[in-house]
Amino acid sequence: MNDSREIDSIMEEICADPRVQEMKRYIQHGRVTTYEHCCRVTGLSLKIDRRLRLHSDLPTLVRGAMLHDFYLYDWHSEDNGEHNWHGYIHAERARRNAEKYLGADKKVQQVIYSHMWPLNLTRIPRSREAWIVCLADKYVSLKETLLER
Ligand SMILES: [Fe+2]
Ligand SMILES: [Fe+2]
Repeated sequence: MNDSREIDSIMEEICADPRVQEMKRYIQHGRVTTYEHCCRVTGLSLKIDRRLRLHSDLPTLVRGAMLHDFYLYDWHSEDNGEHNWHGYIHAERARRNAEKYLGADKKVQQVIYSHMWPLNLTRIPRSREAWIVCLADKYVSLKETLLER
């Protein structure tokens, strides 16, 4: 299978899950849904990998990027205050959901778990795929926060 066919089939498999579709109901930044945000981070991650010829493991990169914010709640909604800790807790929540609902393997889980570095200082990205997603997320988030309010 060539790369783009492989990427398409992984995307199809992930997006067929109703919980992944549920991310369309939550707002990530400004007017952008979490689903859209994850798609953008996936697109940018693939671009970085290609441009810099990093030869990442594509299934790990795509799954990690698409599921990096798979925490499944609206962090803007008022509640008991737990969501004030969103920045610190959501990566672990997303990792757990990815394992539970989509059977994400250890490498994919590590990409998700470490994507908030350096906010979570001790959770350092430990693979090239994890570094790419961590950087792509920073760039996409900044753009969404500044330009799509
Ligand atoms: Fe995140
Ligand atoms: Fe993100």
